[in-house]
Amino acid sequence: MKMDKDICKVLFTAEELQAACKRLGETLTKDYEGKEPLMVCILNGASVFFTDLIREMDMHVNIDFMAVSSYGSGTTSSGNVKIIKDLNSDIHNRDIVIVEDILDTGRTLHRLVEMLKERDPASIKIAVLLDKPARRVDDIKPDYVGYTIPDEFVVGYGLDYDERYRNLPYVGVLDPSVYA
Ligand code: IMP
Ligand code: MG
Repeated sequence: MKMDKDICKVLFTAEELQAACKRLGETLTKDYEGKEPLMVCILNGASVFFTDLIREMDMHVNIDFMAVSSYGSGTTSSGNVKIIKDLNSDIHNRDIVIVEDILDTGRTLHRLVEMLKERDPASIKIAVLLDKPARRVDDIKPDYVGYTIPDEFVVGYGLDYDERYRNLPYVGVLDPSVYA
């Protein structure tokens, strides 16, 4: 692959990512037995994980999509979350599972959960492919985690650097030369 040369370390292969989706899908299937959860994909980062995850859920689900931006000074996010694309569904009394690519400082999801709670859902849980707890600023814990990772900037399987690498089939650490 042409993009491989920009990756200095592969963290999770396509097979390992698939295994995480299978494990989380089975757990969600058990936890939501007798319910029909609304699976909410946070665009664009969660798109690849989302489509694999929902196919590992052996039950009726509904899906919806949302895009948010988190403006801050420089490269880190702020709690100043703006909805770029809102849900199509009414979430009143629904069981919501927010699906996100990575939980970093936690600012974006913390604020997003607050905003969605105002719409009176029955419940809200968070599923993330990757958790980077070392960087956490806001007090937020994901309910479902694919893998926990150290404080490294990763790309692939939906995660981007400058809107690139989302289509890498694995998750890897970006070579520092790419930033230069
Ligand atoms: P935070 O939790 O509010 O700090 O922001 C989470 C968002 O930052 C994620 O949805 C990603 O878009 C982005 N992000 C954080 N860490 C990484 C990374 O290692 N690679 C790619 N994007 C990241
Ligand atoms: Mg993102």
